[in-house]
Formats: sequence, structure tokens, C-alpha cells
Amino acid sequence: MAILLTGGAGYIGSHCYYELLQLNKELLVFDNLSTGFRDSLPESAIFIEGDVGDEEALDGVFKKYEIEAVIHFAGSLIVEESVSHPEKYYLNNVRNTLSLLNVCKSNDVNNIIFSSTASVYGSNPKQIMDETDPYSPENPYATSKMMVEYLLKDYSRAYGLNYVILRYFNVAGADPELRTGQKNKDATHLIKIGLEVATGKRDSISIFGTDYPTDDGTCIRDYIHITDLAAAHLKSLDYLLGNNNVKEAFNCGYGQGYSVRQVLATIEKVIGKKLNINEADRRPGDPVALIADSSKIKKMLNWKPKYNNIETIIKTAMDWERKL
Ligand code: UFG
Repeated sequence: MAILLTGGAGYIGSHCYYELLQLNKELLVFDNLSTGFRDSLPESAIFIEGDVGDEEALDGVFKKYEIEAVIHFAGSLIVEESVSHPEKYYLNNVRNTLSLLNVCKSNDVNNIIFSSTASVYGSNPKQIMDETDPYSPENPYATSKMMVEYLLKDYSRAYGLNYVILRYFNVAGADPELRTGQKNKDATHLIKIGLEVATGKRDSISIFGTDYPTDDGTCIRDYIHITDLAAAHLKSLDYLLGNNNVKEAFNCGYGQGYSVRQVLATIEKVIGKKLNINEADRRPGDPVALIADSSKIKKMLNWKPKYNNIETIIKTAMDWERKL
């Protein structure tokens, strides 16, 4: 039996690929390489280049292999871009997932893990969010992910689909063995850009907004190491395949928030030099603070993070950035 990883050549998908190798199951990667890289995966990987919106191509994969579960990473994920180009998010994230669900249904594949996001919670004054907190998306990216969560719930009720929704907080860092990492051009993520400045690939970094209602005026996020996130997928798959009627959402974060200024100060500490930092206007669509209450995943899936330290996250990301 095989596990299908849509978007499996991307930053998160490729880390999960390596993590899932320990299952000794057939792993299939389906990716259109719009943001992924074939060489993020080992030569031996079964790789199919294709777009999730191409139902015919996808159906061919489902007919050729005996798929028992899908891990759906493929999608667009840049908050600011979603504000300026919402159609891309509703097409790539909502319509294409609908295509995928229809192909799953017509091929009797009933198990899916979905890459969702903490941003479905938006700027809730609670700041530390648990899975029962209401949706309050503040940008089309978050709305598109929320819409897919509804699709999953409806397909579950109507057709018995089993699903695990993983709500990622801010994923960062790199595989400590440096097999894969974040290598997209035109990066938009804070730690990645900070390290590009540190390694001389960029001149400076801007802090987007210094007038937020937080202690130092900058946004707060919960940064999770990619290897711990990959482990959460392994645990989720085990749970999904070992139980009936699975309909769960889990937060993936550590429960510790860092402001933009704190992250940049930690980068400076790790690299031992000052970054060229300037202050800029707020970036559209940014929630003030997003911190995970991750007690549910720890309790239900026995998920035990190993890299929950912002310096470790930055160090592994730095090692990767130097390797690039
Ligand atoms: N930021 C800066 N300067 C930069 C880049 C980012 O100040 O050059 C700030 C942002 O404004 C934000 C914070 O750093 O306040 C984090 O921004 P990122 O772009 O690194 O990440 P986001 O929080 O916007 O989004 C990420 C993922 C989403 C995910 C979300 C969950 O891209 O997919 O984390 O919190 F949903």
C-alpha cells in the first residue's frame, strides 16, 4: 500500500518524505515543481510531476498504485500574495483540493492528512489558540485553508472520509542532516530572510509594523522546527490508519511566542553579528499574535517535540543557508 504526498517536493513535504521513510511503505510524490525541487528528494523517490488540479493525471496515479492515504501539502502559502492575488489561493488551495477529494472518493481512498494553518484563527485576543477556538481568517490564504477544512468535514459526514487536519504554526529550521531545507527564491519568511541577510545574499531586512499591540510593537509567532513538524505527520498517519472515523484537527506549535524583534535579536546572537534592520509599515493580512496550545497533539498522539528552542531552529536554518 502506498502513501501519496501531494506537494512532496516542497520544503515541508520533502522533510516529511524523509521522516516517513522509516515506515517502509511505498511513498509517492506528486508535485508540479512550482515551488518544490526534484532534488529535495532522494534519487530513488517515486516522483510524478503533475498538478493537483489535473484530475485526469491524478486519477491515473490512483489507478496505477494502491493508495491507502494522502498527505496533502500542495498549495499556495504566502499571506501577502494572497491579499493581492486571492484568485490564486481559491484556485490552488480550494478548487484543487476539491479535485483531489473527488479523485479520492471515486477511487475509494478515505484517509487524508491536510496541511492547514494557524492563521485560520486570526488575531484572537486570547493569543494562545486551541483547536476549539473559532475561525477568524484575516487574509485569503487563511480563508482558503478554512474552506478546505469545511470541505473535509462535509466529505467526512457525507462519504465517511477520515481526516487529520494539522494547523501549522510558523515552520522554520532545516533537517539536522541537511538532506533538505528551504531553498525557494524570493523568500518571504522572517527567519529565511534574516539568514539571507546574515549570509550576504540580501542587504537588509524590514520589520513589517512596529505599532502592534504587543510589548515591543511587533507581531508574535510560534516557531516550530520542521523536524518536529515532520514527526507530527508520522504520528498523525499512524493514528489515521489505526483508527476508525477519524475527524481531528491538531495544532502544531510549541506554545511559546516570539516577536519579530526577538527573532532578529536571536539571529544576531547565533551568527555573532548585527543585521542591517529597518522599520517599515505593516504588511497586509498579518495577524497580531499566533501561539499554539499544543496539548491536544501531545496527549492524543504522544507527540514529543525535540527541537523546541528558537536558537536550535535558527542554527539548523543557518547551517542549511550556508550549504545552499
Ligand atoms: N516579517 C517581517 N519582515 C520580513 C518577513 C516577515 O517583519 O521580512 C514578519 C511578518 O510581518 C510577521 C512575522 O514576521 O509578523 C512572520 O512572518 P512570516 O512571513 O515568516 O510568516 P507568517 O506568519 O506570515 O506566515 C507563516 C506561513 C503561513 C502560516 C503562518 C502561521 O507562511 O503559511 O506562518 O502562523 F500560516
